[in-house]
Amino acid sequence: MVGGQGPAHAVGVAELTQDDGLVLSGRVHKHIAALLVVAGSAALFLALPVNPAVAGAEEVRRLAADIIVMAGDAHRLEDQGLQPLHRQGLKQRIAGSLATLPLAIRRARTFAPRLAPLMPRDLTQRLRMALADDDIATLTSELDGLKARYPFSAVGLLPPDKRENARHRARNLHQSYCAGCHDNPDLETPRPAWPLQEMARTMAPVEFAARLFVGVRGERLMALENPLTDMEISALIAFYRE
Ligand code: HEC
Repeated sequence: MVGGQGPAHAVGVAELTQDDGLVLSGRVHKHIAALLVVAGSAALFLALPVNPAVAGAEEVRRLAADIIVMAGDAHRLEDQGLQPLHRQGLKQRIAGSLATLPLAIRRARTFAPRLAPLMPRDLTQRLRMALADDDIATLTSELDGLKARYPFSAVGLLPPDKRENARHRARNLHQSYCAGCHDNPDLETPRPAWPLQEMARTMAPVEFAARLFVGVRGERLMALENPLTDMEISALIAFYRE
């Protein structure tokens, strides 16, 4: 998601992404954020003033994570055994990310001017056409290229935190806030909440880290209120991979 820090941007985002699914994931996970805040784990964090340098780093990281997820989703479309319904869900999700990509890059570059601009300028149109034409080869190769240009920093997330305390915390987090949806997903929807353990074990660690980052950080708008720290995400990665 692209986002600003004020309500004016929030309206723009809602308009831009009306029928893309990423918003769905953001919404779902916003509830979790709210729950966790109520649970008190973020009480201290919320009282802290916003640090623009941290906000910028989060923004850049979020962009890179979105790109990894998009590229990963494109590769999932290569699977011939994928159900048509889930295929449609994945395509919807990619289309949603593509719609906001130029703005996300522009915004990240306001924080990090050395970040590469979107090149070629019509890349998103080309990717959208490839998606519409079901030209998965073009889609994956272009998105892999984009991924290389905007590398995701998994520092603080990887290697997974395998310490006993972390494991304990991750297990509790999962049971309290994730298991309800992810351990028994509704496969009749286009975008199921896939089991996280299975995902962790079958996916490259960096991609899984990026998916968790996007999943639990919610929308960019929410990034600063995110109740799950890097350390907790790292512990979750260890827990899901074990
Ligand atoms: C209310 C139900 C619900 C809860 C609770 C929930 N999720 Fe999700 N989650 C979903 C759904 C539905 C999706 C798929 C969204 C999509 O495809 O856009 C999803 C997607 C994700 C993804 C991205 C998966 C992918 O395919 O890229 C991750 C990672 C994730 N969730 C992690 C978590 C974690 C960690 C928790 C607990 C802290 C959690 N979720 C709690 C419903 C939920």
